[in-house]
Amino acid sequence: MGANGGFMFALLGFMVFHGWSLYSAQAAVHNYTFILKETNFTKLCSTKSILTVNGSFPGPEIRVHKGDTVFVTVHNHGTYGLTIHWHGVKQPRNPWSDGPENITQCPIPANTSFTQEIIFSDEEGTLWWHAHSDWTRATVHGAIIVLPLPGKRYPFTTPYAEQTIVLGEWYKGDVMAIVDEAVSTGGDPNISDAFTINGEPGDLYDCSNTTTFRMLVNKGKTYMLRIISAVMNEEIFFGIANHKLTLVAQDASYLKPVSVDYIMISPGQTMDVLVTANQTNSHYYMMGSPFADTTAPFDNTTTTAIFQYKGNYTPPTTPASPSLPVYNNKSAVGNFTKLLRSLASTEHPVNVPKNITERIFMTVSVNQIECANASCSGPDGNALAASLNNISFVTPTIDILQAYYSNITGVYNSTFPSVPPYLFNFTGDVGDNTLYPKQGTKVKVIKYGAAVEIIWQGTNVGAAENHPMHLHGFSYYVIGMGDGNFDNATSPSQYNLVDPPLVNTVGLPKNGWAVIRFVANNPGVWFMHCHLERHATWGMDMAIIVQDGPTNATKMLPPPSYMPPCSSS
Ligand code: C2O
Ligand code: CU
Repeated sequence: MGANGGFMFALLGFMVFHGWSLYSAQAAVHNYTFILKETNFTKLCSTKSILTVNGSFPGPEIRVHKGDTVFVTVHNHGTYGLTIHWHGVKQPRNPWSDGPENITQCPIPANTSFTQEIIFSDEEGTLWWHAHSDWTRATVHGAIIVLPLPGKRYPFTTPYAEQTIVLGEWYKGDVMAIVDEAVSTGGDPNISDAFTINGEPGDLYDCSNTTTFRMLVNKGKTYMLRIISAVMNEEIFFGIANHKLTLVAQDASYLKPVSVDYIMISPGQTMDVLVTANQTNSHYYMMGSPFADTTAPFDNTTTTAIFQYKGNYTPPTTPASPSLPVYNNKSAVGNFTKLLRSLASTEHPVNVPKNITERIFMTVSVNQIECANASCSGPDGNALAASLNNISFVTPTIDILQAYYSNITGVYNSTFPSVPPYLFNFTGDVGDNTLYPKQGTKVKVIKYGAAVEIIWQGTNVGAAENHPMHLHGFSYYVIGMGDGNFDNATSPSQYNLVDPPLVNTVGLPKNGWAVIRFVANNPGVWFMHCHLERHATWGMDMAIIVQDGPTNATKMLPPPSYMPPCSSS
């Protein structure tokens, strides 16, 4: 992972502030410079130009302490406009810097700059940033490390060292051309050619074994891996041969430590795990392979890196491999997911809303849209689509935040329904009644301070599969999850209101349900979507608008003096 001068400068600033903040209650302010530019990379025996930040893939890390503020000035030296999002950073009262394209801002045009203010609050652990325009996030992403407050420790023994592990996905073709083609034909987008660990596909792919990522470890020491899934379209099983992983945090929130042989990580999720180098001196594969419980095409390849003990010994010709679940092992996912519980300690308490004032039941479906003369390349000549409550989201050309703030009409409407339009056996034989969704730019308006519950119901319409559902501006408690149809009478008895995990992305089981809760204490416009990129492209998105509260401290911050212009406003 390269770092350029701008990044080093920011790092220096970080160290200076770090020294100060030990002696003051003031949260530190950091400055970073992100230069978006095309850069050549050679992988899988071929070279292509990709859009990068500061020339590196993955891009530079942002390091802060809990509660700090970061100013990132993005200079777009690329050839088209795009935006950058700080995934999992709540940005209290500050949707202006959140970043999803045409939701909270318009793209940063080529040859212009935009400074975003990233306000950290209670996040602690690992998050990430990524481009939020079409499929640019495939190459434009990097880690965000949020350390405990200066002078505070982790709620576990301080590891000997830390290593960021960014899981990614590599396409030999141009990602923007792939999504453009999929959208214009209505068919499935091309699948990727490799998964990557810290930018490298690893030994099992052509032309890749000299660049495989290696993590050098000392026997007897414990390491923290900060694992980020920047993968585009598949969930990933990840493990290290002969080594247990102790999962201690997810989405920058601590968990009760659990010891596992593998994790399952969805696009958008981050997981912090501890691993002790307690095996014989050798080389061991760290491995990532897909979880895909769908009929849709997916990349069924395996990425590797090497967990390599330091010392003098003869390494094996082939490192040992972890035994990861097979690609369609849904129960391996369920078994892992049910282990996740918040730490729920005095220092890291849990506060699940109990008296719900806003309840939304939302179906999550893959659909089709009819094309004239059946001319599209999806099933039956239709175009593939996706929806929430049977509404396939249409991205506006003026951002929703500006339209909301400045009362511009005709950009969105506030009619996103709190229940699906039809009730049917969602996870059984669904017939054809909801195959074709409505299209629209609909938002759900929520009062400041509401105690919100969302029941996500995966459906068997189109192609059912696991959906990593992500909400901007909040972390939410996942209080329940199950297979089949949510049942008002019986499902609530399974709720965990004591120590549910607090996350920003949850894997909604295929043909199953998940229930989340949060308090709407962050005024602004906040995007919600499936983090499988092709589903987000097809319309599996919506936005919530949390209204201003009654006091100055509960209202949105004023907009910055400059926001990138919308070409049609
Ligand atoms: Cu990781 Cu809408 O984002
Ligand atoms: Cu999805």
